[in-house]
Amino acid sequence: MHKPILIIGACGQIGTELTIELRNKYGSDKVIASDIREGSEALMKSGPFELLDATNYAAIEDVVMHYEIDEVYLMAAMLSATAEKFPMRAWNLNMNSLFNVLNLAKDRKISKVFWPSSIAVFGPNTPKENTPQNTIMEPSTVYGISKQSGERWCEYYFKKYGVDVRSVRYPGLISWKTMPGGGTTDYAVEIYHKALENGAYECFLAENTKLPMMYMDDAIRATIGLMESPAEHIKVRSSYNLGSMSFTPEAIAESIQKHIPGFQISYAPDFRQEIADSWPSSIDDREAREQWGWEPKFDLDQTTADMLKNLGK
Ligand SMILES: NC(=O)c1ccc[n+]([C@@H]2O[C@H](COP(=O)([O-])OP(=O)(O)OC[C@H]3O[C@@H](n4cnc5c(N)ncnc54)[C@H](O)[C@@H]3O)[C@@H](O)[C@H]2O)c1
Repeated sequence: MHKPILIIGACGQIGTELTIELRNKYGSDKVIASDIREGSEALMKSGPFELLDATNYAAIEDVVMHYEIDEVYLMAAMLSATAEKFPMRAWNLNMNSLFNVLNLAKDRKISKVFWPSSIAVFGPNTPKENTPQNTIMEPSTVYGISKQSGERWCEYYFKKYGVDVRSVRYPGLISWKTMPGGGTTDYAVEIYHKALENGAYECFLAENTKLPMMYMDDAIRATIGLMESPAEHIKVRSSYNLGSMSFTPEAIAESIQKHIPGFQISYAPDFRQEIADSWPSSIDDREAREQWGWEPKFDLDQTTADMLKNLGK
């Protein structure tokens, strides 16, 4: 029997699917969803839910004690595009929520933590193609600075206090159940919605902007796979590079045109172009593959087929 799990920020793009998958795996009553707002009907009906602010240590501690929580997945954060508009709010949320959860683990009130990092930890001076696990990291966004700092603190808490914290650097994530929450790769979700609604999409990134991306099914499998791995396999305690596919807006449009031949894309790059230009184009994730068996399943055409099938229902 799995010990109880708390998901903080469970109503977002990743948290919704992660919560439902963990409930399918370990039992509904073992997985407590929490957020500052209610989530989708599917999420709210699938098991216990608590209104919880990730920046409030005492409130998290109460929930942890009440449900005898053993593992926390911290999914609450302000994402890249929104964080550029509210830098101090982003810093406060992204850092304080992480310290709250790391300190609960340091005090042995919980025994395992998942905290996601991002390809945003890299910056304009990082090698763009096949970006290595260890390389120049000079993030130029508020979000990236918060994620890089978070990685340093995770490794510090592991080394100094023996905290079992695990992390991956997610690329841009594509999913159909929940809309994305204000990131730079949101275009790769919006495009499928607009393709079905209007047969056309105006993209906020330029046609040749190549970024690392991943289908949500793969991201959830990676997350749970990492958390279920024996601790001695986890050699990276900052955050693992995690790769799947890389593509441009032009390539995703061509993939959609195989199903919707008349689909039209146009380009009107905005402030998010500069963020995208500072990120890698592709990721070398050999440590994740070698150390805990990571392997992606979905390529771009499989992603497109699955997105259009599910959104079209
Ligand atoms: N989606 C992606 O493409 C992507 C890529 C890389 C990394 N990540 C990381 O994964 C994590 C989850 O991302 P997501 O895409 O699901 O984000 P999201 O914005 O869709 O969801 C975040 C959730 O956190 C909640 N939240 C906000 N403030 C809160 C607070 N104070 N207390 C509790 N909950 C709060 C929001 O209501 C929302 O439901 C984040 O750390 C993000 O940085 C996401």
